[in-house]
Amino acid sequence: VYRRVYVRTYGCQMNEYDSALMLQVLEEAGYLAAESAEEADLVILNTCSVRQKAEEKVYSDLGRLKALKRNGAGPRIAVAGCVARHRAEQILAAAPFVDLVFGPDAIPNLPQLMERVETGADPVLATGIPDRDQTPFLALSRVAPRQVSAFVTVMRGCDRFCTYCIVPYVRGREVSRPSDAVLAEVAGLVGRGVREVTLLGQNVNSYGRGHAGEPDFPTLLDRVDAVPGLDRLRFVTSHPHDCTPALMERFASLERLCEYFHLPLQAGSDAVLARMNRRYTAADYLEKVDYLRRIAPRVHLSSDLIVGFPGETEEDFARTMEMLERVRFDSLFSFKYSPREGTRAADLPDDVPEEVKLRRLHELQARQDELSFQSLQGFQDRTVEVLVEGTSKRDQHEWMGRTRSNVVVNLAEPQGSPAVDLLGRLVDVRIERIHRHSLHGVMVGSPR
Ligand code: 5AD
Ligand code: SF4
Repeated sequence: VYRRVYVRTYGCQMNEYDSALMLQVLEEAGYLAAESAEEADLVILNTCSVRQKAEEKVYSDLGRLKALKRNGAGPRIAVAGCVARHRAEQILAAAPFVDLVFGPDAIPNLPQLMERVETGADPVLATGIPDRDQTPFLALSRVAPRQVSAFVTVMRGCDRFCTYCIVPYVRGREVSRPSDAVLAEVAGLVGRGVREVTLLGQNVNSYGRGHAGEPDFPTLLDRVDAVPGLDRLRFVTSHPHDCTPALMERFASLERLCEYFHLPLQAGSDAVLARMNRRYTAADYLEKVDYLRRIAPRVHLSSDLIVGFPGETEEDFARTMEMLERVRFDSLFSFKYSPREGTRAADLPDDVPEEVKLRRLHELQARQDELSFQSLQGFQDRTVEVLVEGTSKRDQHEWMGRTRSNVVVNLAEPQGSPAVDLLGRLVDVRIERIHRHSLHGVMVGSPR
């Protein structure tokens, strides 16, 4: 009899990749993927600790899972990911019914860990960070039926130590994955029908550093871009300090690399940037953006910004608002500062009151909404290439996909045309309507 596993993923794309690895490792050991926690014999929460809110969600979900565990029945419950590593004791204290707590480096041993769970009485813990280079990168070959797009890890960990960020503590030191393994994985995914690949790392621009004989990141991009059959290539995340002209030039020279660049700014005030240990100024950032727009004007730029970092004054916040006008990001992710225990910023007084953080966040988001909408206006009446990922959320009779610049497009087939299965196809779409956060258009020509 098969055991069924359900994985719930919180947080970043790195976690999504890790969840796919967990499913792969468990399927190889005889598990089947379940559709929900209720149907599963093993439920894994793959957690995120980047902000307090993400962490709290794990505890409330554990509270709900407890109901499934009555009378000694119900699924085994495992907590994985960043919270697992950072707070194993607290998890077991708050949720003593948890059977297993494991960190990202224990994924290859999941079947063995589950055997220990089945044979022992106590919860099993596997949360250590092994020494640099000790755990190999697992190769991901698992592809869901008709999967269009996939993530590929190129490195793990982070050596940057931005003072607000927990990642270097929970993910450990930076290690790059051998480029041969990256290329083999991309080729394998493409062979299974994947058309779009996103390369993942906390700071991809330091790829290859400290690994003799490995290419740097721009050269890795050249090689992945040349994998036969791949249609679209993306990557996240870049740190502005390490963002070189050589990297930005790839947006002009590489055919598959999409016109979308995520370059987190975090704050507009140089004083705040210095306290964040970001190692660039607002002027440095603007200089990079100017260069990018000169050589590759069609690239859409997105960013991350934090409001309410310790000591952020109204004047500092005005610098952040000013950067919105000067850079004109096409899209933005913005957050209230959330102190993370163990980071250097957690030693600073969290002195911006909650209501001030909230007001700044709303002001920032309201202005960016207008700017994002203006950016979308540029699509009116244009014909753009869309990779179809599924059906539209609003209307099941319409398809949904993304432009190369990562904008969501809902599309209708031209009237009178027979219904075709467009999933996983590249189609040209003439944009007829602009919504707040997406585009709507009609397919023209034939799908590829
Ligand atoms: N508080 C608020 N936002 C944070 N981020 C990272 N750490 C924190 C924190 N402690 C944001 C940064 C980062 C994004 C992934 O999350 O903007 O780029
Ligand atoms: Fe965190 Fe900074 Fe590393 Fe990004 S670069 S993961 S924000 S420490």
